[in-house]
Amino acid sequence: MAKKQPIKLGIVGMGNRGANGWIRTCQLVRDCRVTALCDKIEDLLQYGYGRANDADVKCYTDYDKMLKEADIDAVAVVVEPENNVELSCRALEAGKHVLCEVPLCFSLEDCWKTVLAVEKSGLKFSMAEQVRYSPYMRAWKKMVDQDQLGKIVFVEGQYLHGMTDDRFYHDTKTGARVPYQIARKNLKGVYKSRFWQMKHPILYLPHELSPILMVLDDRVEKVTCMSTRQQSYLHDWLPNPDLQVALMHTAKDTILRLACCFTVHNTQPWHWYHFMGTKGRVETNRYNHERMKMWLADSHMVEPAELVWQYGMYDALPEALASGHGGGDYYPVSGFIECILNDTEPPMDVYKAAETAAPAVVAVQSAEQGSIPIDVPDFRPGKKRKPGCRPRGN
Ligand SMILES: NC(=O)c1ccc[n+]([C@@H]2O[C@H](COP(=O)([O-])OP(=O)(O)OC[C@H]3O[C@@H](n4cnc5c(N)ncnc54)[C@H](O)[C@@H]3O)[C@@H](O)[C@H]2O)c1
Repeated sequence: MAKKQPIKLGIVGMGNRGANGWIRTCQLVRDCRVTALCDKIEDLLQYGYGRANDADVKCYTDYDKMLKEADIDAVAVVVEPENNVELSCRALEAGKHVLCEVPLCFSLEDCWKTVLAVEKSGLKFSMAEQVRYSPYMRAWKKMVDQDQLGKIVFVEGQYLHGMTDDRFYHDTKTGARVPYQIARKNLKGVYKSRFWQMKHPILYLPHELSPILMVLDDRVEKVTCMSTRQQSYLHDWLPNPDLQVALMHTAKDTILRLACCFTVHNTQPWHWYHFMGTKGRVETNRYNHERMKMWLADSHMVEPAELVWQYGMYDALPEALASGHGGGDYYPVSGFIECILNDTEPPMDVYKAAETAAPAVVAVQSAEQGSIPIDVPDFRPGKKRKPGCRPRGN
C-alpha cells in the first residue's frame, strides 16, 4: 500500500501556547509536518521559528498571505479566542482543514458561523480540547458506559485558574508578558492580554464541558447563571467579574453545576470534577495533597476509596509523552491528522465544539438578565435545518 503523504500544517498564533506548546506537539505527531508559522508580532514569530528549529519552516506576519502562499493542507488556530472563528472561517474558505484551540468563541452568532462554514466547506474541523483525553476522564467514561455508576444525575466542574500578575498585559513590541504593577505605569508600551476580552469568566467553560459532555454523551439544553459584580474585587482596575456559577440541565436529564474564575489567587489543580450517579460517585482532588475518590454502592463501600487516576497516560505513545499536559496535548492533534488521512469523523467535531461554547454564552445572557433560565440552541442539522442553512429566525 502506498504510504500516505504527511499533512502539512500552518500554525497561527505564536503566543505562549502556540510557540511553547503547539509547535513541539505537532512536530511529534506522526504524519504531521509543521511547514508554516504565523503571528502578527514579528518578535513572537521569530521566537516560534527558533522553537521549531527547522530551516524549511516558512514564517508569515500576514495570515492571508500564509493561507495563499504557504504549502499547507491545514491550519492550527492558536490565537485569542475572540479571533478563533474569523481565522477558522478564512482558512476553510481557502480550502484548509482547521484544528482550533479552546474555547471556540464568545457568541452564538460565532457558533453558527463556524457550523455553517464547516458544513459548506466539506473540510475537517476539530477542537483541540485535551482534558477529554485525560486518564481519569477515559476511566470514568468506561465506568459510565458500563453502568457502574448508574444513571448520572449530578455533575460538578470548576476551573478556578489562579492568575499570576503578568497575565494581563503584553509588551507592544515583543509580545512578552508584563506584570500589571509595571504595565499600568506606562500603558502606551503595552497591550491588553486575551483575559480582558473574556468579560465573563464562565466563557472559558468549554474546557470543563468538553470532557463532561464526552463522558455523558449528552448536550446542554437549559442554563441559568449567577455572577459576582462586573468588576474584580482583587484587581479593581479590571472590569471582569471574579466568579460565575452556572446550573445546566442536559437532554438526558442530568444537572450540572459549573464554576469559572480567572482572577483571585488559587492553588492547583485548577480543574475539579465530580460525577454522581444512582449507584456511585467519582471525584478528582481539590488540592495536590489530597487523593481522588470513588464510591460504588454495588461494592458495599461504606466510605469512598481514595485513589489516584494517573495524570499521564499509561498507554501513551512514547512520542506523545513529550507533549504537554501529561501527553494529553498530543491526542487532539493526532486525532485531527488521522481524520484527514482516513476521511473519518473529527475527534471533536464542530457540533461538539458549539455544544461546549454555546452553554457558556447562554450562561452570560442569563447572568445579565437576573439569572433567568435560557434555552441553548441545537446546532445539529435535522428536520428543522438542512446542513449549510441557518434555522429560521437565526
Ligand atoms: N487547551 C489548553 O489547555 C489551553 C491552554 C492555554 C491556552 N489555550 C488557548 O490557546 C489560545 C492561545 O493562548 P495564548 O495564551 O498563547 O494566547 P496569546 O494571546 O498569548 O497569543 C495569541 C497570539 O495570536 C496572535 N494573533 C492573533 N490574531 C492574529 C492574526 N490575525 N494573525 C496573526 N497572529 C495573530 C497574537 O499576536 C498573539 O501573539 C487561546 O485560545 C487559549 O484559550 C488553551
